[in-house]
Amino acid sequence: MDYSTRIFIILVISIQISHIYSQSIIQTPLENNRKTLIRDITDDDEIFCNSWKFTVETNDAGIWSRIPKRCVKFVGDYMLGIRYASDSDRVLDSSLSFARNVKIAGDGKDAWVFDIDETLLSNVPYYQLHGFGSGLFDEKSFDEWVDLAEAPALPASLKLFYELKHLGFKIILLTGRSEFQRGATEKNLLFAGYDDWEKLCLRDDSDIGKNATLYKSGRRQLAEEEGYRIHGNSGDQWSDLLGFARATRSFKLPNPMYYIA
Ligand SMILES: *[C@@H]1O[C@H](CO)[C@@H](O)[C@H](O)[C@H]1NC(C)=O
Repeated sequence: MDYSTRIFIILVISIQISHIYSQSIIQTPLENNRKTLIRDITDDDEIFCNSWKFTVETNDAGIWSRIPKRCVKFVGDYMLGIRYASDSDRVLDSSLSFARNVKIAGDGKDAWVFDIDETLLSNVPYYQLHGFGSGLFDEKSFDEWVDLAEAPALPASLKLFYELKHLGFKIILLTGRSEFQRGATEKNLLFAGYDDWEKLCLRDDSDIGKNATLYKSGRRQLAEEEGYRIHGNSGDQWSDLLGFARATRSFKLPNPMYYIA
């Protein structure tokens, strides 16, 4: 490096340092800083989509029909990567620590309710081919997927299912799927490793027009009338858990792909 190059570099560095120094002593108004910060944050897809997912999981977002376009990659990475599995495993921990403290009467009426889609079974292989919820729900193609009966188990739910049975709970399956899908649903549950549930409730003709919250609450109420005590309820949708005849404790599993009211 010759002498003039060295002088040039020193000059550039000292200009940089004085620039940083002068910036730190000139106070920019707080509001301007905040605006810059907010712009930087909402420009970043990873940060934006993580926060969007927060509003979805807490139900702050309310009813929504498709994921933001800019979040397709984020949701795909989440569902296929370690975070979905990790979040589900932590829900499993919470569910189990509650379940272990339930006093089982031994009369065969201590019950736990499970939803099916995105709870016992994972439709990620389907949604992977359908933009992870970025398009509108296509009933025809989803029904074809259901008929295949090849959805894998969500590992955290498979573990919870058998732990609960071991503790003495009766398992009630309550799904938004329809009666005509009973055969394919049973076949898929067995394929995924589930066995020996107490009952499987699907939508029948009397449920047409009911939203999911109303339909599922009604079925839980019927179970209670049959003498079941519903201690726990696991589902990926708020409509699995809200309404009446609620479980003592409800456990919300993650699902940033779709919302069912
Ligand atoms: C579901 O239907 C019931 C009864 O019509 C209604 O009170 C409730 O607000 C509905 N819930 C949603 C989320 O649409």
